[in-house]
Amino acid sequence: MIHFNKETMTFHLKNRDVSYVLSVENNRNISHLYWGASINDDELNYLNRPTLPAFCPETEGIIRNSRDSMRHDYPINSQGDFRMPAIALEDMDGNTRFEFEYNQHRIFEGKSLIEGLPSTYIESDEEASSLEIDMIEKNYGIMLTLTYTIYEDRAVITRNIRVSNTGDKTCRINRILSIGIDFDNADYDMVQLSGAWAREREICRHTLVRGNQDIQSIRGSSSHQQNPFIALVGKNADEVNGEAYGFNLVYSSNFIAGVEVDQFAQSRVYMGINPHEFSWLLEEGEVFQTPEVVMVYSNEGIGKMSRIFHSLYRERLIRGKFRDEERPVLINNWEATYFEFNAEKIEAIAKVGSELGMELMVLDDGWFGQRDDDTSSLGDWRIDYKKLPDGLEDLTKRVNGMAMQFGLWFEPEMVSPDSELYRAHPEWCIRQKIYQPIQSRNQLVLDYTRKEVCDYIVESVGGILRSCNIQYVKWDCNRSLTDVGSSGLPKERQREVAHRHILGVYNVMERLTTEFGHVLFESCSGGGARFDAGMLHYMPQVWTSDDTDAVQRLKIQYGTSLVYPICAMGAHVSAVPNHQTGRVTSFKTRGDVAVTGAFGYELDLTSLTEEEKSLVKEQIRAYKSYRKWVAQGDFYRILSPFEGNETAWINVSSDKSKALVMHMRVLSEPNTYGRRLKLQGLDETKQYKITGIEKALYGDTLMNAGIYVGYKQVDFYSQVWYIEEVSLK
Ligand code: DGJ
Repeated sequence: MIHFNKETMTFHLKNRDVSYVLSVENNRNISHLYWGASINDDELNYLNRPTLPAFCPETEGIIRNSRDSMRHDYPINSQGDFRMPAIALEDMDGNTRFEFEYNQHRIFEGKSLIEGLPSTYIESDEEASSLEIDMIEKNYGIMLTLTYTIYEDRAVITRNIRVSNTGDKTCRINRILSIGIDFDNADYDMVQLSGAWAREREICRHTLVRGNQDIQSIRGSSSHQQNPFIALVGKNADEVNGEAYGFNLVYSSNFIAGVEVDQFAQSRVYMGINPHEFSWLLEEGEVFQTPEVVMVYSNEGIGKMSRIFHSLYRERLIRGKFRDEERPVLINNWEATYFEFNAEKIEAIAKVGSELGMELMVLDDGWFGQRDDDTSSLGDWRIDYKKLPDGLEDLTKRVNGMAMQFGLWFEPEMVSPDSELYRAHPEWCIRQKIYQPIQSRNQLVLDYTRKEVCDYIVESVGGILRSCNIQYVKWDCNRSLTDVGSSGLPKERQREVAHRHILGVYNVMERLTTEFGHVLFESCSGGGARFDAGMLHYMPQVWTSDDTDAVQRLKIQYGTSLVYPICAMGAHVSAVPNHQTGRVTSFKTRGDVAVTGAFGYELDLTSLTEEEKSLVKEQIRAYKSYRKWVAQGDFYRILSPFEGNETAWINVSSDKSKALVMHMRVLSEPNTYGRRLKLQGLDETKQYKITGIEKALYGDTLMNAGIYVGYKQVDFYSQVWYIEEVSLK
C-alpha cells in the first residue's frame, strides 16, 4: 500500500480507491504532489510549475520554484513561504527560522496508537500501512516526525505530527497543526458544520475566496458553534456525484480548521490545535504529539464521503463492547422532572417504561450533594438522601427488578463554588492569578492538568459506579473554559493549560471506561458541544442536542450525519409543546425522526394517555426489530432540510436486504400534490417488498422511478417505509 521511489524520494500511499503522493525535494521540502482517485504513477514532479514566480524568495534546490509557491505537505514557518505555516518554533533567543532535513523514514504494516490521545485504530496489521518520515533540525536537535496511515479497504488517510527535542536546547512551539496540505487549485466549495446550542451542526457551504477562511473554537471544547470538520467539495458535487475531501480532527478542545487560497489560486487546507493562547515549551528529551486528522476522499459525492467516515468510526474509532452491541431503549427523567424528583417518582417512571418495552432508566442531574437547582454541589459525588432516602443501591435494585437497567448522570469536569469540594480545594479549578474566575451556569471547571484532580474524579465517580449495578453513564460538560490557567504549572507553561486539560480529561475517561467496560457511556455537553471524534473514542454515543423538537432534529441529525454515524446519535421522543421550541408535533412524527438514532424517551411516562402508551409500545417493538441493522448499516441522505420543506433519508442494511425510509414534509402547503421519492443504496438486482405497495419491486425501480409519497393537510407530516428483500425461494 505504500511505495517508495528512492530516486525521486517519492512516497505513494495507494489502495483501490485512493492515492496520496508526496516527495522530499532536495532532502528538505516535503512537497504534496497528489491526492485523489487511485493512480498508477509515482513520479509526478512533471506537474510542477515551470517558472519561478516574481517576488517569491528563491529556494535552494527547488527547480524553478519557491517555497512561497510550491505545494507543501507540511509547511514550516520562516522559510520564505508567506502563507500560514502548520508549525512555528522559536528558540530561547527569539530565532524562528528552523531548517529541517530529511533524516530517515519507516514504512510498516499496521498503525500505531497515539499515546494519551484518541485515534482511529486497527485490529490486525493487514488493515493498514503507515509511513513515518523523520526530519531533523540539526542546529537544535529537533526531530519532526510526520506520520501517515492508509487503510487497506477504505478511502482514508490519517495523519499526525510528533516533535521530539533530541538536543539540549529548550525551544518553544508557538503553533503546531496536524496538517497543512496545498491543493493545486481553488475550484472548490468549503463545507462546515456551524451552529449554536440547540441548533448544532447546520450545514454551511460556500465558495472559496482568496485569503483565509476558517472555523475555530477557543472554548476548550469542540463547541456547539463549530465542529472540527471541514470538507472541500467540487463546485458541482452533491450527495451522489462529484469529488469530496473530508477532514475531521480527532480532538475535543480548541481547534482551527480552514483553507488559505494563495496568490496563485492554490488552496492550503489546515487543521489542528488552535494556536490562540497556545504555546508549548519543549525541553531536552521532551516530545509533543498532535491529534490525528482523518482525511476521507470520495469521487461519488458527499454521501459516500459520509459513509466512509461512518463505517470507519463505527468499526475503528469507537471501542468496547457497545461498538457491536445493540443499544438499549432508554427513558431519561430530565425533561420529565428536571431537579424535582424523588425515588418514588423515578420508580413510577421506570415502571411504565418497563411495561412499554423500555430497557434502561436514566437518572439525570440532581441526585447528589444538595443539588435542587444548578447552583450547587458539582464535585460532591455523594447521594442526596433527601431525594433518595433508601440510597442508590435500593433504587437500582428496584429498577432492575422491573427488568430494566439503571443509568446515572455525572458532570465530572466541573465544580460548583457552593460545594464541599470547592471549599476544601479552591485551587483545584482552572483560573488565573489576578481575577476571580468567570462563572457559567454557576460553575467552574476543575483543573485536569493536576494529577490529584484526575485521581479524585476517578475515585469518586468510580466509587459510585462500584457501589451498585449501574450500567449506563451520561457524562455531561456544561460550560466552556475561561480564565485558562493553572496554579499547578509554572508561568512559562500557562499557555499549555487548555491542551494539558483535555489530555487529563482523556486520561480520566480512559481509566473509567476501561475499569467499567460493562457500562455504556454517553457523552454530552449541553447537548452537542462535544459531538466529536475524540469523544467517540471513549464513549460510543453522544447526546446529539438538547433540542428534542422533531423538526429541529431533522437538521441537527442530518447535519451531524455528514461525519458521524447515526448509531452514535442519542435521539429521544420528548413531550409537547417541545421544551426548546414550543412546537407541537405528533407522537408518530417525533418517533419517526428519533428511531434512526440511539433511541429513547425523555418525558413523564406517568402522564401518558392509553392511546399514547400503545403508540409508544408499537414504536419500541418496531425499533427493536430493526435497530441492529439500522445502526450498522449505511445511511443515505435523500432530501435536505437545509434546502426545502421536505426531508428524507434511508438506512440500508449492509447486505442491502432491508431498508428503512423516512420522509417528512415540514409545513403543510395548499393545493399541492405528492411526490416521487427516488431511493438510494439498494441493490438494483434485488426485488423488495415495501410497506403499502402490493407488488414487489426491483431495487433499480425504487432508485430510479422511486416511491410515491402521499400528502396530508397537516404540518410535520412524516412517514416511514420498511423495505425487505423478497426471498426468491
Ligand atoms: C445538559 C444536558 O444536555 C441535559 O440533557 C441535562 O443532562 C442537563 N445538562 C442536566 O443539567
